[in-house]
Amino acid sequence: MEFKHASVLLQETIDNLNIKGTGIYVDGTLGGGGHSFEIAGRLTQGGRLIGIDQDEAAIKAAEERLSPYRDKVTIIRSNYRNAPQVLKEMGIEGVDGILLDLGVSSYQLDELERGFSYKYDTKLDMRMDTRQSVSARDIVGGYSETELFRIIRDYGEDKFAKNIAKHIVRARQDKPIETTGELNEIIKAAIPAKMRQTGGIPPRRPSRQLELPAIEN
Ligand SMILES: C[S@@+](CC[C@H](N)C(=O)[O-])C[C@H]1O[C@@H](n2cnc3c(N)ncnc32)[C@H](O)[C@@H]1O
Repeated sequence: MEFKHASVLLQETIDNLNIKGTGIYVDGTLGGGGHSFEIAGRLTQGGRLIGIDQDEAAIKAAEERLSPYRDKVTIIRSNYRNAPQVLKEMGIEGVDGILLDLGVSSYQLDELERGFSYKYDTKLDMRMDTRQSVSARDIVGGYSETELFRIIRDYGEDKFAKNIAKHIVRARQDKPIETTGELNEIIKAAIPAKMRQTGGIPPRRPSRQLELPAIEN
């Protein structure tokens, strides 16, 4: 599958980075290299972009996309939390800007084998770095209710985290949760129907019409 991803807030991001031609920049979530392409294109002699991503497919796509700027770009497959170490190994003591476009790429969501999609029923996986041994299936199947609650609350910021964790633990007692579709159904059942329609935001009451006195001619 072709690596497709539309970069979010591309112009705004590039404008706010105030790129200096000779500067050093880190893109910690390289993805398909959409933002990085624009950064690299603004670098001059001495400027450098270090692009980091933990996903092998993203690294391949970015290498291709950024090939016109090969002399100014270093691409590294890693977690961006290792950026200080990466920079140290490159002998870089400071940078002029860091970009983090957090989240998943459209490619990761659309590529069924990656097991992220709720749109299709596919084997539950969700590893961004496929070198990791622990998948979403292992977490959903093996973590305690308290651990699941903490993950869903802290990383998902879901206010129904407690109920979702409870439903997961109850469901897996009957059978292991194997697919994204099964997990989706369990999560749906843990969220009140009214809230599901609005994505957890309380439904808006119809606003009252402002009653103005009639103008008499
Ligand atoms: C929204 S995409 C980035 C898209 C990119 N800005 C572009 O314009 O093409 C997010 C990327 O961040 C990567 N990612 C997420 N968390 C990461 C982490 N902790 N370390 C390294 N890469 C990460 C994902 O693999 C994904 O490729």
